[in-house]
Amino acid sequence: MSLKTVVAIAAAGVFVLGISACSSGTPSGGSKADCSVGISMPTRSLERWINDGEGLQAKLKKAGCSVDLQYADNKTDQQISQIQNQIAGGATILVVAAIDGSSLGPVLAQAKKQKATVIAYDRLINGTPDVDYYATFDNYKVGTLQGQYIETSLGLKDGKGPFNLEPFAGSPDDNNAKFFFAGAWDVLSPYVKSGQLVVPSGKAPKSDDDWASIGIQGWASDKAQSEMDNRLSSFYAGGKKVNVVLSPNDSLAIGIEASLKSAGYKPGSDYPIISGQDADKANVKAILAGEQSMTVWKDTRALGERTFQMIKSIDAGTKVEVNDTKTYDNGKKVVPSYLLTPEVVTKADVKTKLIDSGFLKASDVGL
Ligand code: BGC
Repeated sequence: MSLKTVVAIAAAGVFVLGISACSSGTPSGGSKADCSVGISMPTRSLERWINDGEGLQAKLKKAGCSVDLQYADNKTDQQISQIQNQIAGGATILVVAAIDGSSLGPVLAQAKKQKATVIAYDRLINGTPDVDYYATFDNYKVGTLQGQYIETSLGLKDGKGPFNLEPFAGSPDDNNAKFFFAGAWDVLSPYVKSGQLVVPSGKAPKSDDDWASIGIQGWASDKAQSEMDNRLSSFYAGGKKVNVVLSPNDSLAIGIEASLKSAGYKPGSDYPIISGQDADKANVKAILAGEQSMTVWKDTRALGERTFQMIKSIDAGTKVEVNDTKTYDNGKKVVPSYLLTPEVVTKADVKTKLIDSGFLKASDVGL
């Protein structure tokens, strides 16, 4: 089938994914590339990645693509060898949510040798020219929403304080974590300087660039929990209370909440404000129970749909739509990106935003 025919069929509204004559070619150099997509996700231990991977896989299969979906147990070596297998299996498009954003250069160079197109999914891949597109949510905005929620809830703009704050950051090897922290810290750090926010543990990075000093490796709940245990036992003796915890995501929030619980904190007036991200079921339950204040919801279905649209365009050889060509410099190139908009969910809008949209079932969260 010629490209002209493909375009004509596409124009007639017939979905042609899977039979395109786009330029990516087959490893054997044949004239047609079947739509063959390798999806590489970091871990099954977090609900969101299961939804991300399975949602995208279902869309692609429905469109007639062959799909290899792999989860790498948060282990970089495993992710690299899974991607190598996908390349060897003839994948023409790779969708990768990196575990360590700076260690995939060599494997992506192999992918490029066989002209595969690489989409960084949710997390940017750094230090390589071999990443073609980036589909994500506005990561800086995620942090801004967390910071602004805290600013408003505590009345910081009205001069209220001082409040005891404990800030946390995400995994040092995840490029997103830097953006989440910067977004939040740009809102909160002026209040740390003015003394309206006090950080008893001293774990307040001097600048956005120091964020990794408080990063929790692998986004692990148990590591966040023991870090919070240490802070509480070392710096909160004699009845001092934490008033607010900046948690960049839900997996950290779960650990922090467990720590607070074992230190005797109970939902109610002196329970701290705690932020999160992802709208994981356990965290939405915690929000309903008053153990977490908010989460930043990133509708993974929208990210899947956006990535699917990118794949359709790549496969059809048409222009891939992006909306940001400035922000995501990976050290080798500015990666053309499509940023989706995250939004805040609190107890008041769990039903209207998460349940009514079908993102979660009422029964998932005990409603
Ligand atoms: C994602 C978050 C997620 C975190 C831990 C980040 O890269 O953007 O949504 O909570 O990884 O998996």
